[in-house]
Amino acid sequence: MSRFEWVAGSARLLQQAGDEFERTRPFEGLRIGTGIHLEPKTAALLLTLRRGGADVVSTGNLNSTQQETVDYLREKGIDVIGGPTADPTEHDRYLRGVLATKPDLLLDNGGDLFTRYLENPWPNLRGGTEETTSGRDRLLPLRDRIDLPLLVINDSPIKQFAENTHAVGAGTVESFIRITNRITNGRRVAVFGYGSVGRGVAAYFRSFNSVVSVVEPQPVLRLRALLDGFDVPDRDDALASADVIVTVTGAPHVIGHADLARLRDGVVLISAGHLPWELDVPSLIEDPSVESIDDVTDGITTLRLRDGRAVHVLTRGHMVNLAGPRPLGNSIESMDLGFTLQARCLEAVARGTVPKTACVVPVPAEIDALVASAYVELARA
Ligand SMILES: NC(=O)c1ccc[n+]([C@@H]2O[C@H](COP(=O)([O-])OP(=O)(O)OC[C@H]3O[C@@H](n4cnc5c(N)ncnc54)[C@H](O)[C@@H]3O)[C@@H](O)[C@H]2O)c1
Repeated sequence: MSRFEWVAGSARLLQQAGDEFERTRPFEGLRIGTGIHLEPKTAALLLTLRRGGADVVSTGNLNSTQQETVDYLREKGIDVIGGPTADPTEHDRYLRGVLATKPDLLLDNGGDLFTRYLENPWPNLRGGTEETTSGRDRLLPLRDRIDLPLLVINDSPIKQFAENTHAVGAGTVESFIRITNRITNGRRVAVFGYGSVGRGVAAYFRSFNSVVSVVEPQPVLRLRALLDGFDVPDRDDALASADVIVTVTGAPHVIGHADLARLRDGVVLISAGHLPWELDVPSLIEDPSVESIDDVTDGITTLRLRDGRAVHVLTRGHMVNLAGPRPLGNSIESMDLGFTLQARCLEAVARGTVPKTACVVPVPAEIDALVASAYVELARA
């Protein structure tokens, strides 16, 4: 069995939706354009949309596209533009290639497609979906200009707990172990950001016997971290004492060159945030205190400082669970839930049941309920 078959066979909600779509054909005659991490689980989503009659045009996201997924999708008749790239200019060209086909629906991931759509809008776009927190933040100020139904999958409570908290939490610990092959027990781990993702990262490192602290600027969330049993040191103290630092904030330049003086020898820096800017890797690398850079071990960049300390950056600051050697990303079941929300939201926009005023808003409650009930029923069967 190939990994694609394994994933498709494990994504039972998508299978169920695909069986229904084959009968109901909600996307008949429509083109869906997307720029999303291309890996076996997204392949299952794109093929489900196709089963509903969609003509799917896709490209990947920066630095997370897997060539074998591209090959597989092309074999299955999905139009994939470009291939793996870590070059933002090349990636921009691929995204514009998707938009040039003037899709009827956009499945966006990080706001890349809707922001570019506004530069040169076309009339047949019905609306679409946005997968992430970062995309929501980018698109919210543009909602008056977009003026189409645009449902934010991230803002479904299901995505928040199933994917952001549980799956990314587990996946970040798994990535740390897979890439470094080091122990988690007794390690002092500082988690920057205590949103839906940070809560999971903190909880899963703790369950792997790490000593976890949380740095969070919002007072209420900092209190929540404290009541959840985490230490909540000041930023500088956390930087100075951590063996492992994980950023999950959605914000740029959370850790940069000005912090180098504070970090412990051997510290491991990780980001699980969507954009590769939370760790300001260019400024870290270019700092005059860095003597040399060693990129030999797959997924680990070691900065050797002139005073003898080493700082290890995993996957050059790209999302750790989707980059580096043999990344598997989030669990199939968590993505099955999130992608079924995607498929059902796109179905609703395609059918015209979502009003234009529902622009950059959470998944409708009835779709959450439909997907949640279907999962529980399958789990109990
Ligand atoms: N790796 C993945 O597979 C994956 C999956 C889902 C989301 N994400 C990404 O993870 C990031 C976090 O998502 P979320 O849903 O938890 O967001 P969120 O907005 O709920 O939480 C982010 C938290 O970070 C805090 N923060 C902001 N700047 C900070 C700083 N400088 N230092 C410390 N804390 C700071 C904010 O106050 C906020 O509480 C986003 O970029 C999101 O796109 C990644």
